[in-house]
Amino acid sequence: MIPRCRFRTLILLGVLQGAAVVLFYDWYTRISPRHSPPPEGRKVHVLLLSSWRSGSSFLGQVFSQHPSVFYLMEPAWHVWTRNHKSGAKSLRVPVREMLWGLYKCDFSLIRDYLPGNPRLSSFFMWTRSQALCSPPACPVKSANESHCSQACHSASLDKAQDACTTYTHVVLKETRFFEMESLYPLLLDPNLDLRVVHLVRDPRAVMRSREESAYLLDRDSVIVLEHRNVSAADRQYEVVREICRSHLDIYERGFLDPPAFLEGRYKLVRYEDVARNPLTELNSIYEFVGLKMTYEVEEWIQKMTHGRGKGGGNVAFKITSRNASEVSQAWRTVLKHSKVQRIQELCKGAMLLLGYRTVESEEEQKRLDIDLLDPGQP
Ligand SMILES: *[C@@H]1O[C@H](CO)[C@@H](O)[C@H](O)[C@H]1NC(C)=O
Ligand SMILES: *[C@@H]1O[C@H](CO)[C@@H](O)[C@H](O)[C@H]1NC(C)=O
Ligand SMILES: *[C@@H]1O[C@H](CO)[C@@H](O)[C@H](O)[C@H]1NC(C)=O
Repeated sequence: MIPRCRFRTLILLGVLQGAAVVLFYDWYTRISPRHSPPPEGRKVHVLLLSSWRSGSSFLGQVFSQHPSVFYLMEPAWHVWTRNHKSGAKSLRVPVREMLWGLYKCDFSLIRDYLPGNPRLSSFFMWTRSQALCSPPACPVKSANESHCSQACHSASLDKAQDACTTYTHVVLKETRFFEMESLYPLLLDPNLDLRVVHLVRDPRAVMRSREESAYLLDRDSVIVLEHRNVSAADRQYEVVREICRSHLDIYERGFLDPPAFLEGRYKLVRYEDVARNPLTELNSIYEFVGLKMTYEVEEWIQKMTHGRGKGGGNVAFKITSRNASEVSQAWRTVLKHSKVQRIQELCKGAMLLLGYRTVESEEEQKRLDIDLLDPGQP
C-alpha cells in the first residue's frame, strides 16, 4: 500500500508533469513551422482537389505509393454515377458527406452507392490504390495492378475499412468539388486534420486534352453544366469556364483571403511546376502533408517522369524532365489560335491569378521559346 503522504506527492508530481506537458506543447506549437508533421498518433486527411485532365491521376499515385497512405481515387464518382440525372450543385452535400465518412474510415455511406454485395473491388479504379492492394486490406502484397485485380478481387469491404484505420494518412482524390465552402464543415471538424492540395493546370492545355477524350468526359460534363441545353460546339468551353471559375474561387478562399480555420491548410500546385521540377515540387507537397519521402517513392517518381518505359497503367506524365516544358506546351502547336483566344477570354481572371500568361497573336503562341508561366507563385 502507498503511504498517504507519498500518494500526495505522486499527485503533485502528476499535476506538475501535466502542466509541463501543456506548457511544452504550447511552446512547441508556437515555434514549430506551420506545416509540421502531426503529433504522434494523429491522422492527417488530405484532399487532392483538382479537375479533369490536370495530372491528378499522377499526383494521386505519388500519394498512393507511400506506405503510410490509404488512398482512394475519386470516391465521388459513385455518387455522380448513381445520380447522373442530378446536377453538380445538388450533389455537393452527398459528396461531402461521403468523403467525411471515408476520412473517418467509416464506409457505411459509400456502401449505399456500391451495387449488389460490395467488395473491395467495387471501388472505382480500386487497383490504383496501393493500400487496397496490400495487407491488411488484401491478403497479399500485389506487384502491379493486374496482379492486384486477381489477387485482391474478392477481399471484403470490411477488411478495407479496418485497414483504413491503420494508416496515418487518408488521401482522397476528387475532381468533383467546385467551391471551397463545400468543405468548410470538414475543415471545422476538430476530429479531422484536413489539408487541401489544389492542383491546377493551364486551361489551354486542359482544353486540348479534353478535346482528345471528350466522349469519356461527356457524362460528367452534363452534370457540371446542370443539364443545361448547351450545343456540342460550346460544351467544352462552358465546362472549362466552370473549371476556371472554380479554380479562382478555391484559390481566393484558400490563399488570398482564407478564413482562420483554413490558414496553413491549403497548398496550390501547378501541373507545369511539377512537370519542370518533379522531385522538388513533390517533396514540398509531401512536407506540406507531413509525409517523409522514401527511397522507393523517389525511385518511382524518377521512373515515371524520366524515360519512356512501361509506367504501368498510369496515364499521365510520359515526359522527361529535360523537355517537360515542351511536352506540357503541346497545346501551343496543336490548338487553333481562335480557340486559344476564346479560352483566354473565358479564363482571364483565373489565368492572371494563377500565373498563366496570355498570348496576343498566333506567332507568340507558336514561339515555344517564349515562356508563358509566371514564376514565383506560392
Ligand atoms: C505483375 O506481377 C506478376 C506477379 O509478380 C507478374 O507475374 C507479372 O508479369 C507482372 N505484370 C506486369 C505487367 O508487370
Ligand atoms: C436544345 O437546343 C437546340 C437548339 O439550340 C434545340 O433544337 C433543341 O430542341 C433543344 N433541346 C432540348 C432538349 O431542349
Ligand atoms: C521529349 O521526350 C520524349 C519522351 O522521351 C521524346 O519522345 C521526345 O523526342 C523529346 N523531345 C525533345 C524535343 O527532345
